[in-house]
Amino acid sequence: MLSPREQLGEVHVSLRSNVSETVIRTVGLSKRYQSGGTVLTVFDDVNLEVRQGERLALVGESGAGKSTLLHLLSGLDRPTEGKIYFGQSPSESPEREITAMSEDELAGFRNREIGFVWQIHYLLPEFTALENVMMPLLLRQGGPGTVTREEAESLGRSRLQEVGLEARGHHRSGELSGGEQQRVVLARALVTNPRLLFADEPTGNLDERTGQMITRLLSDLHLAHNLTSIYVTHNPRFAAQCDRVVRMEAGRLQPEFIVPGNHGQGTSMEAGLT
Ligand SMILES: Nc1ncnc2c1ncn2[C@@H]1O[C@H](COP(=O)(O)OP(=O)(O)OP(=O)(O)O)[C@@H](O)[C@H]1O
Ligand SMILES: [Mg+2]
Repeated sequence: MLSPREQLGEVHVSLRSNVSETVIRTVGLSKRYQSGGTVLTVFDDVNLEVRQGERLALVGESGAGKSTLLHLLSGLDRPTEGKIYFGQSPSESPEREITAMSEDELAGFRNREIGFVWQIHYLLPEFTALENVMMPLLLRQGGPGTVTREEAESLGRSRLQEVGLEARGHHRSGELSGGEQQRVVLARALVTNPRLLFADEPTGNLDERTGQMITRLLSDLHLAHNLTSIYVTHNPRFAAQCDRVVRMEAGRLQPEFIVPGNHGQGTSMEAGLT
């Protein structure tokens, strides 16, 4: 027979296991640029919460601030105001404030926790596809999570296999097609086993068929690697495949209704916007 305290404890544990963890959240985030005597407010008071396992599509017109927001979330740029917290997890680590990290801490955070697929791919053309994929591991150079070159190579090969490019590992990245290069970028983004994947218009420069192949890969990899994914996209079909769509407009984030069957927005609380 359980004591009342033990019963409460059990209830507590079972409730906890049903609550999905917040992986990243922002509080009152704004970004402004000053040029000459004028101030450009890209966005203001953005409050976003993204949970473990979610696939979030960020949409909005060109210039709305989507890339800027991804850069802030991934610690590549700093906000003018507001805070970003990462990794609240009852079972693992306490929440860490990204916006309070030093440049060195941010570099380590990005290397270990974040995978990034850029709007422009930034592969190193003089290196092979495999070397490009291994690069985030090679850059650790004695820091946390350092692996041997052989281990990096083995991890790199397995990621290339996941994107169907194991036979092209020895090709210089400049010799690959646009779609193949994007697959190498995906393999590189995942070689460190990140918790969060950001992709900025991952199908932007590809023809429709290749774009569909990349979105399928993103979906498969999201599940296979237990990721939380945030995609910027102008592709409504891709956005509709996600759990949630938010639109950046006039400097604010607005929840957007998506196809029934997916988790469309209800109140702004349910949409993770508070
Ligand atoms: N370093 C900078 N200095 C001044 N303004 C900037 C700077 N970087 C971005 N901006 C401005 O911030 C705004 C948002 O840019 P951002 O690149 O985030 O837009 P976006 O939504 O990603 O657009 P797209 O869909 O075209 O990629 C734009 O008006 C841009 O000109
Ligand atoms: Mg952009």
